[in-house]
Amino acid sequence: MSESESASAADLVPIRALLEASGLPTSDLASARPEFAVIRERGQVVAAGALQRYGSSALLRSVVVTPARRRSGLGQIIVAELERLARASQITRLILLTETAAEFFTRQGYRVIERGAAPKDMQESAEFRSLCPTSATCMAKSLTD
Ligand SMILES: CC(C)(COP(=O)(O)OP(=O)(O)OC[C@H]1O[C@@H](n2cnc3c(N)ncnc32)[C@H](O)[C@@H]1OP(=O)(O)O)[C@@H](O)C(=O)NCCC(=O)NCCS
Repeated sequence: MSESESASAADLVPIRALLEASGLPTSDLASARPEFAVIRERGQVVAAGALQRYGSSALLRSVVVTPARRRSGLGQIIVAELERLARASQITRLILLTETAAEFFTRQGYRVIERGAAPKDMQESAEFRSLCPTSATCMAKSLTD
């Protein structure tokens, strides 16, 4: 059974490589400083995902599984861990933007919302303003249900 854990500073190098290889944004990682969770196998980071907090909501971002390990449940484990961390920090709603994984997130209980329904300060983030195209699907999940 794979277990996720908080990322260390050294994990940021392989995380960045995984994100770049999957076409996900990395240019704002240093400025936005999202908090990452990772899954390691034999010492290698094989899955990652992050939370970027805005008040009582958070942007769920940078969810990625190394291509050779996709469709084996790791994505689901990372999302569940990020939801657990969010609840532990009194975050009540998670919001994400995705171009390719709407079906995956629907299975995890996320529902499509209008981009304009996200908190205003989140809409000012680089992910919303420039890194994710306006064609990206915006989805949300309440953690209080
Ligand atoms: C999206 C991603 C993280 C999913 O990770 P994964 O480890 O392959 O997903 P899981 O194996 O945990 O899948 C969980 C469920 O979603 C389904 N699923 C996974 N990817 C899917 C896809 N692209 N389309 C439809 N269903 C999908 C699985 O079949 C599984 O369903 P089940 O529970 O009925 O068996 C992975 O494909 C990835 O890294 N994609 C590239 C990066 C990306 O687009 N990230 C999202 C941007 S935030």
